[in-house]
Amino acid sequence: MRLFLWLVLWFIGAVQLGSLRLESNLFLSPLAGYTNLPFRLIVRQIGGMDLATTDLVNARSLLERNPKALKLIETRPADQPLAVQLFGSVPEEMRDAAVCLQSIGVASVDINMGCPVRKVCRVGGGSAMMTEMDQTARLVRGMVEAVKIPVTAKMRLGWDDENLTAPDLARVLEDAGAAAIFVHGRTRQQGFGGTVNLAGIAAVVQAVRRIPVIGNGDVTTPRAAKMMLDETGCAGVSIGRGALYHPWIFRDTALFLRTGRLEPEPDFEERLQLMRRHLDLMVEVFGEEHGCRMFRKIGPWHSKRFGPANEFNKRIVKLSSMAEFHVILDDYRQWRLPFLDEDGRLKPRYRPSPVTASFMREPGAAGRAEIPVPKGPVEVW
Ligand SMILES: Cc1cc2nc3c(=O)[nH]c(=O)nc-3n(C[C@H](O)[C@H](O)[C@H](O)COP(=O)(O)O)c2cc1C
Repeated sequence: MRLFLWLVLWFIGAVQLGSLRLESNLFLSPLAGYTNLPFRLIVRQIGGMDLATTDLVNARSLLERNPKALKLIETRPADQPLAVQLFGSVPEEMRDAAVCLQSIGVASVDINMGCPVRKVCRVGGGSAMMTEMDQTARLVRGMVEAVKIPVTAKMRLGWDDENLTAPDLARVLEDAGAAAIFVHGRTRQQGFGGTVNLAGIAAVVQAVRRIPVIGNGDVTTPRAAKMMLDETGCAGVSIGRGALYHPWIFRDTALFLRTGRLEPEPDFEERLQLMRRHLDLMVEVFGEEHGCRMFRKIGPWHSKRFGPANEFNKRIVKLSSMAEFHVILDDYRQWRLPFLDEDGRLKPRYRPSPVTASFMREPGAAGRAEIPVPKGPVEVW
């Protein structure tokens, strides 16, 4: 019966996370500094994704009602269903933070595990690994028993290729009551380099008995999402940088998975419209000064598919007001004219080349260097 239910959900592209039924098996990955309310709203407006996750939030700061932590969980009815990602190692704090999130209507709680078995690698595995896993399982069980909403965990494959601990950890967490596992198919040693290991994700899928495993890492196109689903057997795909690069990726992927059809890329005007909407929301949520300052690192993501954009990027990274934004845009339109043909389209040699996933190099496609890694504590992501 359970197998039958799974097959039906898989067929219609839906996923069950504990008590939470999701209409899409595509997820927005947490990206600290980016996946805030404005970004989630623009992605949701385009469609194709159901559950989005906040940036990681310190459980203790949340319990202390720290204004920065509260800002990270700010949401709106249009931003549902929402998962909040917590980090922390004190079981009582993690439990209480989960209870607090449930009480304010959050749909799901995710635990940032990065590579949680650091000790294993230092002492060479064995009992230390089990000790650490036991502690982690206790922490998860405490949270699961305290709330009705799903508790999920996000991890990497392990420390390095010799220590691929994610399958064991996933199984232990399933037994502790975790409702799903999100796994970035790289080791901590890899950082963001090298190739996403699909076989490693498949091993996690095989290690659990019932719960969905959501694959993650370098999914930048609908075809890459399909390949990850097909080759790993994962129940869904979570997308981070691919969504910054192309916020339409969820809509396009959902369509591709359903029909095999690929949407044409949005044109320049459509991209500008989305960028403007994004900035408007940043200003609405964070105020003009702070919103514009935060937009300095977001603008260059929007411009990645504008074609030549040096002039735009040089100025957007100093943005300080809405009025300035409009001037930058007007000037950029003028600056861009020589790169256009008589129909107003980029001349072929200036068109951006297609991006591709590290695990799926297509002939003639550019490498992953096109999806940069913004600064941050990458070792825990
Ligand atoms: C700037 C940045 C911030 C990130 N922040 C988080 C985070 O807060 N929590 C987390 O679990 N992972 C975080 N990650 C990791 C992503 O969620 C994701 O696992 C990783 O980027 C691989 O997926 P992608 O290739 O689709 O981006 C972050 C990654 C980047 C590049």
